[in-house]
Amino acid sequence: MTLCLVAGVVGGCKGAPPAVDAQASKQDRPGEGRERRMPALEGPPGSVAVGVNGAVSSAELHASRVGLAVLERGGNAVDAAVAVGFALSVTHPSAGNIGGGGFMIVREASGRARAIDYREVAPAGATRDMYLDEEGTPTQDSRVGARAAGIPGDVAGFALAHTKYGTMAWSELVAPSVRLAREGWPLDQFHADDLARAAGRMHKLGFHDSAKVFEQDDGTSYEPGDVWRQPDLADTLQVIATRGPRAFYEGPLATALVTGVRQLGGLWTEADLRAYTAIERDPVDFEYHGHRIITMPPPSAGGVVLRQILAGSDHLEMSTHAWQSSAMVHLYVETLRRTYADRNELIGDPAFVDVPMEELLSTAYVANRLASVDPNRATPSSEVGAGLPLPAESPQTTHFSVVDGAGNAVSNTYTLNGGFGAKLVVPGTGVILNNEMDDFTAKPGTPNMFGLVQGPQNAIEPGKRMLSSMTPTIVEKDGRLRAIVGSPGGPTITTTVAQIILQIIDYDRTLPAAVSSARIHHQWLPDKVRVERRTPAALRESLRGLGHTVEEVRWGAGNIGHANCIEVDPATGGFRAVADTSRDGGGAVAF
Ligand code: DON
Repeated sequence: MTLCLVAGVVGGCKGAPPAVDAQASKQDRPGEGRERRMPALEGPPGSVAVGVNGAVSSAELHASRVGLAVLERGGNAVDAAVAVGFALSVTHPSAGNIGGGGFMIVREASGRARAIDYREVAPAGATRDMYLDEEGTPTQDSRVGARAAGIPGDVAGFALAHTKYGTMAWSELVAPSVRLAREGWPLDQFHADDLARAAGRMHKLGFHDSAKVFEQDDGTSYEPGDVWRQPDLADTLQVIATRGPRAFYEGPLATALVTGVRQLGGLWTEADLRAYTAIERDPVDFEYHGHRIITMPPPSAGGVVLRQILAGSDHLEMSTHAWQSSAMVHLYVETLRRTYADRNELIGDPAFVDVPMEELLSTAYVANRLASVDPNRATPSSEVGAGLPLPAESPQTTHFSVVDGAGNAVSNTYTLNGGFGAKLVVPGTGVILNNEMDDFTAKPGTPNMFGLVQGPQNAIEPGKRMLSSMTPTIVEKDGRLRAIVGSPGGPTITTTVAQIILQIIDYDRTLPAAVSSARIHHQWLPDKVRVERRTPAALRESLRGLGHTVEEVRWGAGNIGHANCIEVDPATGGFRAVADTSRDGGGAVAF
């Protein structure tokens, strides 16, 4: 019997969505019958699901259910993650994707952990100043339109994870997404609104053919409950399912992608697609207050920044102050100010630039950087630069977490960068183009879409991976899985992950409490403490009293991040999947 432990903002526990076989045959379940289930605990309605055999938390319930069905059929966490990754490209199109890229941390039940880098790369035709006009001013081309798109890595990344760690047939993992795209799925309020907004923006930009994908044949918007079908995307996914992952990179589908992108003014060539490779890397792996933290190395800055924040927490003894007291937040912000200065100046794609990893990850280096922190006064960011000399020379992303009954775990964050990426769909393919090129430094000293002021380490070069903040992370305690954590949110990703980890490790909070807690962010420049709508006025005032400029975020309806995470009860080994439904919806499932 399938236990009805599905939580989410759509559908509740009303059974499987039309296109997905949630009643698929089950194999023996190692935990069945054992009393190791966690209490579901508090949290916004529909945000928490508990189980003992496996769990998935993602931004969209149909996609989470696809992952659960794979686990129920006996697939492992990597099988389920691949299936969820494809499903979100259908059911969460602002960020779930096959036309973008991302990062995955895989932790096997044995504790062995690897990082999979499937970040986009700059096309061979890209040049350092390609987004500057004649006066040297950055243009919008890095954000909107086909020139904004890097060469996508998703399909190659999922294939690498599947080849190394998966157990089920590739076609079986893509098939549920083909069905979801072809037969459609009923839109909830969030996604109906999201599609209408996207179509409106695309029309305004003159991208009428792309807009049509997101509206009814008569040009009106979909309403909640309407079934949304994507026949072009279904055909594309079918090719990937039957011919295998290389079909995205060479052959008729690749030719169609390149032809479409070039017609829209982009730079892709068939050689660019053919050359794309995902890379397996050693994760950033360190100890914090008795826990092992496994997270992403460059070309994401996420792991380095997370390490520096946690080393700062230890050095400045942040946890001796109450959670989000002004004293605690002040020390936290002063740490962020310094670590983001390093992030923006010193980190880039390690295949192209030297990244001083040893120093950046060292406790002594972080302590030295924090020596200038005044416990009673904000240090202006204008007085803070990177700690080392340079070596010579509305965003949308989505995070999901998966665990299986054996304890294999996947933490995956992937993205088109902005919501609906470059706001273009490659004609006839259903593939939404990313606008990841904006993550490069278009011009040193000039802010990008996220206000990040970055340096020459992250300059555009053909074949180079743009610097990221994505921070898929796995936490272990005493050699056992403890939590799977991650979020979207551009530069706020790493601070969101850090705040959740600090709460569960240092403040003994449950995951639902840690996920729903208000978030705070600083990134060196602009010199502002960003707070959520729900951040108490008293805290904002105390921070202002210490000399900080405090600003409520204007993106995402006053929210920071969307952390769909899972924790494991150290006492019983039971799973608690937590979707961040107090922000932008989500689906937590478990069995
Ligand atoms: O890689 C990065 O850091 C960005 N492209 C992530 C963008 C993002 O998270 C937008 N989401 N809300």
